[in-house]
Amino acid sequence: MLQLFVQKHGASSHPIRAFYSAGRVNLIGEHIDYNGGFVLPAAIGLGCTIYCRLNDKNCLNVAYTTTDFEGSIDYTKLDSYRDKNYLNYIAGVCIQLQDIGIQLVGIDVLYDITVPFGSGLSSSAAIEVATAYMLQSIYNNKHGIAKPIDCIQLAVICQKAENNFVGVNCGIMDQFASAMGKDNNAILLNCSTLEYKYISGNMDGLELCIINTNKPHDLTTSKYNERRQECESALNWLNTKSDKPIKDLCSLTPTQFESLAQGMNSVLYNRAKHCVYENDRVVNAVDAFGKGDIQLFGNLMLQSHDSLKDLYEVSCVELDTIVDILKAQSYCKGVRMTGGGFGGCCVAIVAKDNRDKIQQLLDIEYPKKTGLNCSIYYTNMSDGAKEIFVS
Ligand code: GLA
Repeated sequence: MLQLFVQKHGASSHPIRAFYSAGRVNLIGEHIDYNGGFVLPAAIGLGCTIYCRLNDKNCLNVAYTTTDFEGSIDYTKLDSYRDKNYLNYIAGVCIQLQDIGIQLVGIDVLYDITVPFGSGLSSSAAIEVATAYMLQSIYNNKHGIAKPIDCIQLAVICQKAENNFVGVNCGIMDQFASAMGKDNNAILLNCSTLEYKYISGNMDGLELCIINTNKPHDLTTSKYNERRQECESALNWLNTKSDKPIKDLCSLTPTQFESLAQGMNSVLYNRAKHCVYENDRVVNAVDAFGKGDIQLFGNLMLQSHDSLKDLYEVSCVELDTIVDILKAQSYCKGVRMTGGGFGGCCVAIVAKDNRDKIQQLLDIEYPKKTGLNCSIYYTNMSDGAKEIFVS
């Protein structure tokens, strides 16, 4: 990598440093981060590493390991990179950092991204958080600031970058998981308060299997923002029926929701119902995870998938096909779509030592129904943002 760095950016006497942040998988709690719900994501072993070196200029020169694209971000014209592929996420983060008073330092960078793009495993959050962590670290070093980086603040900044600059009205889950991930732990995050707890589950004899439909999902053109609006409309409607103000959909219990929802438009009812019951499932799933009750955890994953498919309508044939194939196998303890949906990935909890069987099964059955081949990844729950070495 260091050789490739010099090939792309030339030699210099400044040292090269490297920063990392992770992609994420969400175990349960889908589409409720922006409804004040609980989510249970984990950072994964696929992520974004950035090699970087001071350049004594007022710009950030970008190169990638996986494409010949090279570009430069002029810190005085950050707003002009809004529609520029390969640069917009980075420029968006720069703007948000400037907004909180972080001066940007001129650097040459090489991005090495192992999270597949469009897979629903948050390649964008990995890029944003690694970028923010790097720029903040360099700024802190330059100014002799020794306090540790506030990764929660970075996650919030990166979410803003995505909302305001890239145009995806996403919640906080992806950036939070990317920044705050911890080896062998999932994160129970209350998206209403940002309180969180690491959950170390009993995964004895089991492993996480992520199956990419290879149907790319693009949240900017998908119905993601439309779902958010439907949730807002549902909340407004419920508020007209309630004596007390309801802050967000996930502050309602299923019983409270059902009694208020009489007469609600059926689409809005279905969207809101998914949110309220999904939140409940997360709470039960965490309980089951802690007790090592993988069967219950797996059942809740399946219920979550059905709800995302039937009520929230963010699944697709490709995701459903994978769920249908795997849920019929005794080694599969639970499986569901993960992330925004409309393509992307499924996550399954499977008994170890079945990798060949899973591969063979999906190689035969998945293309029959979809005409596509899927990719399978096995990964641990991993660390989030960090500096990985100084050369
Ligand atoms: C995307 C968004 C997240 C979250 C998920 C769905 O990944 O970026 O904020 O809403 O979809 O759970």
